[in-house]
Amino acid sequence: MYESQIEAAKEKFGKLLEGQLKRVDTMKAQGDFLNYKELDKIIVGVCGGDGIGPAITAQAQRVLEYLLKEDVKAGKVEFKTIDGLTIERRAAEMAAIPPAVLEELKECHVILKGPTTTPRKGDEWPNVESANVAMRKELDLFANVRPVRIPEQGIDWTFYRENTEGSYAVGSQGIHVTEDLGVDFTVVTSQGCERIIRAAFEFAKANGKTRVTAVTKANIIKTTDGKFLDIFREISKDYPDITADDWYIDIMTAKLVDEKRRRDFQVLVLPNLYGDILTDEAAEFQGGVGTAGSANIGKRYSMFEAIHGSAPRMVTEGRDKYADPCSVIRAAAMLLAHIGYNTEADKLYKALDICTITEKKMEITGRDTGCTSAEFADYIMETVEKLD
Ligand code: IPM
Ligand code: MG
Repeated sequence: MYESQIEAAKEKFGKLLEGQLKRVDTMKAQGDFLNYKELDKIIVGVCGGDGIGPAITAQAQRVLEYLLKEDVKAGKVEFKTIDGLTIERRAAEMAAIPPAVLEELKECHVILKGPTTTPRKGDEWPNVESANVAMRKELDLFANVRPVRIPEQGIDWTFYRENTEGSYAVGSQGIHVTEDLGVDFTVVTSQGCERIIRAAFEFAKANGKTRVTAVTKANIIKTTDGKFLDIFREISKDYPDITADDWYIDIMTAKLVDEKRRRDFQVLVLPNLYGDILTDEAAEFQGGVGTAGSANIGKRYSMFEAIHGSAPRMVTEGRDKYADPCSVIRAAAMLLAHIGYNTEADKLYKALDICTITEKKMEITGRDTGCTSAEFADYIMETVEKLD
């Protein structure tokens, strides 16, 4: 019974293991982080994505060009617009990222990316893999860094979400063994755990943080989460001045709501899927996922993005010019800090706070009752100008 199905499943599983072992070899051979200071020119790719993406990303690019105008003029920074990461083209080519687009992305050092549509079962698009997830894998962007800050509540969290492994590594390669049995896989590697956990501790050390918390479900998912936790404990020994503790994901989701305890957390490091879930919850306290920026960092490439979706309906209704560009502009501020423009990044963060929280001279409503994205970007640039 079922022999042929089991054989077919084994063959697929074998292929999957081959792919993952190749990835381990690549990680073993990997050098250090790119040093932007050593580059003659930093190439910033601007990849609009889908739906409202091109409209809001163009505004973020204007703000970046304004802040970096001297260095753009001097040829030290160059912007490169990358079109074609749209769901229409991805569906036509049946590729998560069309190969020509991937080549263009690889010519950049850092990328600012708009939202991309992820097809889901039952909608009009074929089942191509998420462009987001594919980009993280293709460019090996292993650290997804998501800060959440609510100063008036004493909240200052930085999430280090592992971005290339866990349930996402082979998320589109699960196996339907028979009509009734489906299996997905969770993948962990020593190298993958080490690099994300070390990145979290290094961030803590460099930023005066005193606590790093690992979040797993190692009591149940013993092999993969167990390995993550073992490596966390091992690496924590290299940082004796930092308190290292660990929580299970279920109670962690509860603790984030606990006003007495939640401000104790500082840096959290966690496998991919738990990071996906917990960072949405965390961003909600700050005003929703639309207010959060996200950095996807690897050794050679880095990509910065908003966490919200592509809102295709706003485009069909002709409202994309009223879309809120703040989240992708916040991602642009993270990009600036990452490539060493800390003064410019700080100014942009300050201006964003003034324009969206304290002064709020203009309002974005997503329709013609509010200002356009371009007007809001102007407002941000005028505010930066006044900071000087
Ligand atoms: C995120 C998103 C993505 C993810 C989706 C769009 C594939 O939810 O960046 O958190 O699941 O990682
Ligand atoms: Mg998510």
